[in-house]
Parts: sequence; structure tokens; C-alpha cells
Amino acid sequence: MSSPYARRRERFLRALPERACAIIGGAAEMRRNGDVHYPFRQHSDLLYLTGFPEPDALAVFTPGRERRFTLLVRPRDAEQERWTGRRVGVEGAVERYGADQAFPITEAPQRLHELLDGCDEVFLHPGDNPELDALVLRTMAALRRRERQGCRAPRRITDIQTVLHEQRLIKDEEALASLRRAVEITAEAHRLAMGAARAGTYEYEIEALVDYTFRRHGGYPGYGTIVAAGANATILHYVDAADVLRPGQLLLVDGGCEWQGFTADVTRTYPVATAEGRACFSPAQRRVYEVVLRAQQEGIALARPGVTIDDIHRRCIEVLTEGMVALGLLSGQPAELIDKGEYKRYYMHRTSHWLGMDVHDVGDYAPGGQPRPLQPGMVFTIEPGLYIGEGEQEPPEYRGIGVRIEDDILITEDGHEVLTRAIPKDPSELEALVGSGRT
Ligand code: GLY
Ligand code: MN
Ligand code: MN
Repeated sequence: MSSPYARRRERFLRALPERACAIIGGAAEMRRNGDVHYPFRQHSDLLYLTGFPEPDALAVFTPGRERRFTLLVRPRDAEQERWTGRRVGVEGAVERYGADQAFPITEAPQRLHELLDGCDEVFLHPGDNPELDALVLRTMAALRRRERQGCRAPRRITDIQTVLHEQRLIKDEEALASLRRAVEITAEAHRLAMGAARAGTYEYEIEALVDYTFRRHGGYPGYGTIVAAGANATILHYVDAADVLRPGQLLLVDGGCEWQGFTADVTRTYPVATAEGRACFSPAQRRVYEVVLRAQQEGIALARPGVTIDDIHRRCIEVLTEGMVALGLLSGQPAELIDKGEYKRYYMHRTSHWLGMDVHDVGDYAPGGQPRPLQPGMVFTIEPGLYIGEGEQEPPEYRGIGVRIEDDILITEDGHEVLTRAIPKDPSELEALVGSGRT
């Protein structure tokens, strides 16, 4: 058993009840316009367990049967393959992807009927793929109707997240190797963006440089790269990337490379350099930046097994709220401003999310309703920010300043590792690097 996929399947199969059937639908091609499609990205659950790269696939796991891993895939088709590319096909699904048996995806209704017959429990991610949900429900109903003839329908549907997403939450060796490579490429992209961030450059040019760097190494953007100059940075998921960089602005770049299905997620904020390449925070920008940096550093310092993401969020909110008072954005007692939620005027998102195959990765944040203690092998972001609107009521020197600093953290046995530590965030280091054309 050599491939990471085979090892993951073995663990997954062992975690399922003997009489279960787990069903995982792959992604479909998405039409963009006319007969043009968006670039295809496999569903993360299917990718995690199989590595199978094509649209219209279905994986079925039956731990109690002799053939435990079934793949349904697009069959080979010489005419179609001439136009739209090679296919693995039914035989390839067995030979190259380790399925115990494989069938054409067109046989899904009949094969599911056979595979579900006699199982007690169906593991599925309800609501994730309504078409698949409907097919499974129809199949269960058909089996129920035939119980007098000796069929037996499953009695329960269980959310697959209780098993598979728990497994995805703790990164295995191969997942960590992919994340580390994703981080390396992401570091190069951010450094190139810093070097290029001069007044007169357009946001889309920086975006192109970041995405080009990902592609140059065989990766992809793990999510839409955010490049936001000036007040655009106060829009959390700004995607227009259409404005020119002006002297005196800050530039926020949130970009992460996806490598072999795993993505980094990194934000840096720094001053736009002059056309000649000199970069300097204004005193007001630097004050805001240092509050966010301190919040992030204190949050990171807490990260170790047993601590919760809520503890880290709480600490970041405390530092940010104290900062808001010190800057004159809010007035009052920080503890009271936190209790009343007043800080949300400038910090409206959570500090952390799980990171992995999806940028906002799977994994229960509060199993049984209780915040989850961190464990070795978990990876998540710490990304505090301050986003100050341009309204009349804001102090003029801070209007339109948006800062976020985001790193990727791995929990280890005795603490944590900041996977993205090679990407500069010290303000003086940034001033030296930004606009220099150097990396
Ligand atoms: N890039 C999305 C996020 O930071 O959560
Ligand atoms: Mn993030
Ligand atoms: Mn991000």
C-alpha cells in the first residue's frame, strides 16, 4: 500500500461501520459562457481519497464487502477525447487509481442500487450535491419498495463530515509536504509583488504577477487573489483589481498557491512605493499596522495543543480593541467595547479558519457545541485586521486604511510552526523591500 490515497482510503474505511456505504460525488464541469467552461477543479473529498482528476466521477466505499472501493467514471470515447482530452476510463480507474471495481458513470442508478442494497447506513455530505442527494434518496426509496422481494434499504443517512472531515482536519505527511510546497511558491509570489508595488502600477498587474508565479511552478491560485490598494483594502473580499496604485496608499495582497490540492492563504499589507521605488508607511498607517501586527503576534504566541481558536480570536480582539482606543477610533473601556461588540466596526471577521484542500477547510469548529482544543497536525490561519471606513465620523488621518496580516500555522506536539514565516511582515523590512524590484 504505497500511495497516500490508498493509505487515506484504508483509514477512512476502517473508521466506517461495517455495514455502511459512503458515497462521494466528484465535481462537474461548470459552464462559464457559451460553450466555454471554468477551469475544472475536483471536489476536495474525492481528491483527498482518490486523486482522481476528471469530472463526473463518483466514489463508493463499502467496508463490509469484498470490493470496498468502487469508482464510477466517464468511459473512454475516442471521438470525445479527440476534442476534450484524454480520459482515464473504466479500466484506468482500476489499474491506475486502485479501484476494486469501476463502471461507467452512466450506470450510477443501477450500481448504487446494488451497492446500497443491504447496507444499514449511508454516509453522504447532504446538501453539497443536490443531484446526488436526489439519486441516493430515489435509490433508497426503490430499495424500500422491493423489501418484500428480499432487498433491504439503508435506515440512516449520516453526514460524512463526522468521519472524513475529521480525517482531513489532521494533516498527514503528504498533506503537509504539499502545504509546505504551496507556501514556498506563495512566498516567492508575495516577495515579487512587494518588489513590484510602485505607484502607477495597476492592481491587476500585481494580481497577474502573483498568479503567474503560482502557475510558473505548476500551482494555481487556491482562491481568487485579492489585490486592494488604498480604501479598496477595507472591502474584505475585493476582487475588482482594476485601480491604479497611488503614492501614499497601502496595498493589501491576499494570495495563496494551491499545490497538489492543498492551498496556502497569506495576506500582507505594505505601503505603495514611489515610481522611483521608495516605500514608507505614513505615521498613521504605521500606527494602525503595528496594532494589527501586535495582535497577530500575540495570537500566534498562544497557538499550541489544548488552546482553542476562540482563545486566539479573543486575544486578537483584546489587542485590536486596545489599539482602537489608543488610536482614537473608539473611546471607552476595551472590555466593555468588546462585550458590546463595538470593535466590530473596524474588525468584523473571525481571526482563524482551518486550512487545507479548501481555503476555508472542512473540520468541525465546535464538536458537541464546545470550542475545539487544537491538536498536532491541525493547520489554520491567524489573520487579524483593521478596516477603517471613509465616513465623516472616522478620524481623518485613518480614513480608508485597511490592514490585514495573515499567516498559516501548523500545530506541533510542543507548540506551533508558522509555515509562512519566510514572508516579510516587519514594517522596516517591508519598507526596504517594497518597490525595490528585488525579491
Ligand atoms: N483569502 C480568504 C481568507 O483569508 O479567508
Ligand atoms: Mn484566510
Ligand atoms: Mn486570505
